[in-house]
Amino acid sequence: DIKGFAFDLDGVIADTARFHGESWHQTADEVGTNWTPELAESLKGISRMASLQMILDAGDHADDFSQADKEVLAEKKNHNYQQLISMLTEADILPGMKAFIQSAKAAGYKMSVASASKNAPMILDHLGLTSYFVGIVDPGTLTKGKPDPEIFVRAARVLNLDSEQVIGLEDSAAGIASINGAGETSLAIGNVTVLRSADLNFNSTAEVTLTSIEAKMK
Ligand code: G6P
Ligand code: MG
Repeated sequence: DIKGFAFDLDGVIADTARFHGESWHQTADEVGTNWTPELAESLKGISRMASLQMILDAGDHADDFSQADKEVLAEKKNHNYQQLISMLTEADILPGMKAFIQSAKAAGYKMSVASASKNAPMILDHLGLTSYFVGIVDPGTLTKGKPDPEIFVRAARVLNLDSEQVIGLEDSAAGIASINGAGETSLAIGNVTVLRSADLNFNSTAEVTLTSIEAKMK
């Protein structure tokens, strides 16, 4: 039986995936990489330094950047991103997610956060949601990021549950791969074609309720 939920943050709870996209778009322009919807999609769920490397690899100038250059670029992206999220409020919770989190809590489910973002604790505070979660996996302590299963394995451990008792919620292909690798039930929010390896698919957060999940699990 399902006893808990492990949530991705950006694009699942918070409407912040677009801000990551906007700030990486600026980086791509700066390093001379053509920004495409496919590149934007492939960066979802990917850690800061790995995202930067993918942007450099997608262009023709990857070899022109030293480790020090990369750290400056990543720092600059994070600075731009933090400007964009500095005004976040409860209104930036994606449709239906506050109600879903509240109903899951009321029904006795345990919840944790499995986000690759080092900004996750601050964002949850801005959204007024921190108290709903048993814990937040610290991405700084991971040896491998999504699509590796490690982060969702840790998210189940935080809940003190077995993988079969956990549903992981994700908006990225890398995240769904991580959930599947961890042996949990994967719930995808977004484009079914991109997220076809998920166990359960939803077009938008507004459709995610305990009832609709139960219906799809049958
Ligand atoms: C999430 C987002 C990614 C982001 C990553 C690291 O997984 O989906 O777009 O690159 O977190 O975020 P950070 O805030 O630590 O740079
Ligand atoms: Mg996400």
